[in-house]
Amino acid sequence: MIRFENVTKRYRGTKRPALSGVDFEVQRGEFVFLVGASGSGKSSCLQLILREESPTSGRVAVLGRDLKSIANRKVPYFRRSIGSVFQDFRLLPSKTVYQNVAFTLQVTGASRGFIQQAVPEALALVGLSGKEKRLPHELSGGEQQRVAIARAIVNRPQIVLADEPTGNLDPGTSVDIMQLLARINAGGTTVLMATHEAAFVDQMQRRVIELRDGEMVRDEVGGGYGDTSNVPRLEPEAIRGAAATAALQTVREVHRETEAAIAEPVPAPAPAPEPQAPARPTVKPADEARPATHPITLPAIDVAELGVADRLGLDTGDDEEVGPVS
Ligand SMILES: Nc1ncnc2c1ncn2[C@@H]1O[C@H](COP(=O)(O)OP(=O)(O)OP(=O)(O)O)[C@@H](O)[C@H]1O
Ligand SMILES: [Mg+2]
Repeated sequence: MIRFENVTKRYRGTKRPALSGVDFEVQRGEFVFLVGASGSGKSSCLQLILREESPTSGRVAVLGRDLKSIANRKVPYFRRSIGSVFQDFRLLPSKTVYQNVAFTLQVTGASRGFIQQAVPEALALVGLSGKEKRLPHELSGGEQQRVAIARAIVNRPQIVLADEPTGNLDPGTSVDIMQLLARINAGGTTVLMATHEAAFVDQMQRRVIELRDGEMVRDEVGGGYGDTSNVPRLEPEAIRGAAATAALQTVREVHRETEAAIAEPVPAPAPAPEPQAPARPTVKPADEARPATHPITLPAIDVAELGVADRLGLDTGDDEEVGPVS
């Protein structure tokens, strides 16, 4: 899906390369965190994937194509298969929520019928139904980022790139956004997310690629993921990280409680179901409309009673179904 082969990127007029000999491959359906200190090369990686920059040496292949082989005039078409989300949202300030999301489709020449169907679906998926007519400045930061995510996915891209999408948000809102991306990934979309948020990354137990001064120093693929009991918790040293960890814990607890509540009162007719069988989760209408390549197993929760984070269903139990981890 995304392959870096010995990629080095040296910007003009700089002494040290921004990326040096970077090698990795992301498979379809994976959720990958790209972490590292400021200046370690995270954004450079994402820019190479979007062909906003080209490698000085080495090869970047995306969706099976060597990006060098794509003619400049074809680059906009190539980018349609990639949705992008940024730290600063990048919404059009004078357009409404609906128009911001529809705009992506309009410039690609989508039919009016498709736009009328796809925009409400995308807004429903991010939990913004009913706010179509608002302008960006009439929304909270988290809501603005959700508009940006709706815009990124409305075209049903195969890949979503997110560059510090929670960088401007408070910890609780960041959890919402993280879980929204996890949910999008659960629908089959490959997600690559650059972030500083060590607490989130450790809690979410997805693949982690770490850069240090442009070099890849960690690629934790298949490194014991899936068994949450073995994953050590980060000591909440940074205030921001501690709050984020607490928020995520809370969300998980609510989620577990909700699942338990759903599982309980289902008196099955005889013969009884297998003792180990989990409660059958229901897919909510917003998901049915998306061409899911993987089953989305979310419990049926009364959405009115829960915040967005709670109904995004980040349950470690889902991870097996999400996609390949190699
Ligand atoms: N257009 C550019 N021209 C020159 N140098 C650049 C350019 N873009 C990035 N760099 C340099 O490349 C290195 C990697 O930058 P990059 O933006 O990829 O890091 P990052 O990990 O995304 O950092 P941050 O967490 O602060 O966003 C840095 O030393 C940066 O100064
Ligand atoms: Mg960056």
